[in-house]
Amino acid sequence: MSDSILAPAVLETERLLLRAPAPEDVGPIFEICQDPEIQRWTVVPSPYRPEDAEFFVHKLAADGWRTGRYPSWCVFEKATGALVGTQSLADRGPGSAEVGYWAAPAARGRGFTVEALLAVCRWGVAERGLRRIEWTAYVGNEPSRAVARRAGFTMEGTLRSFAPQRGQWRDVWMGSLLATEVPSA
Ligand SMILES: CC(C)(COP(=O)(O)OP(=O)(O)OC[C@H]1O[C@@H](n2cnc3c(N)ncnc32)[C@H](O)[C@@H]1OP(=O)(O)O)[C@@H](O)C(=O)NCCC(=O)NCCS
Repeated sequence: MSDSILAPAVLETERLLLRAPAPEDVGPIFEICQDPEIQRWTVVPSPYRPEDAEFFVHKLAADGWRTGRYPSWCVFEKATGALVGTQSLADRGPGSAEVGYWAAPAARGRGFTVEALLAVCRWGVAERGLRRIEWTAYVGNEPSRAVARRAGFTMEGTLRSFAPQRGQWRDVWMGSLLATEVPSA
């Protein structure tokens, strides 16, 4: 993806609304990121403090849209207005980006993450010209792999000592979804 000013995109699916993180999301993000599974399987700080949520919204997410290199979204259930997750699409070089996501514990198991992920993949192909969308997870993250598989990603293998998590290098599973493979809405 190129370094350009990118207007934050609003995405809508049957049950969900995705929009750029905003100041009012700081509180809910702080609460949700207390979840041990999110801390175990992502790079969020642990312990997770209120200033970490502030940093995500005001710095990481804002810069991500400004540069076009890290678009991210808060995901809301339309029926309740509740924040049910986040999605992101990190630049991984020409035509390539890596998805990232978490779901609020109370919202898991309802297919929300797959639904949101597919909307993000469709946007990445249509609006950012992506050729290859990558998914990685630390080895053992079965729920994340189930999401990726359900969304149509092909598993490619295990990369040893590939990604850092809080100062420690970890093995990851890698999968990909090509532009030609993104299921239509
Ligand atoms: C991974 C995570 C985002 C899944 O969110 P979710 O909203 O429950 O996922 P969905 O409801 O969309 O489920 C999608 C598929 O995964 C399956 N799945 C979800 N949780 C699962 C679990 N714990 N074990 C096995 N399969 C699981 C669902 O059954 C569903 O498959 P199906 O459609 O064949 O039934 C959530 O568990 C999470 O936030 N984990 C902590 C953070 C994390 O690991 N993020 C990813 C880092 S790579």
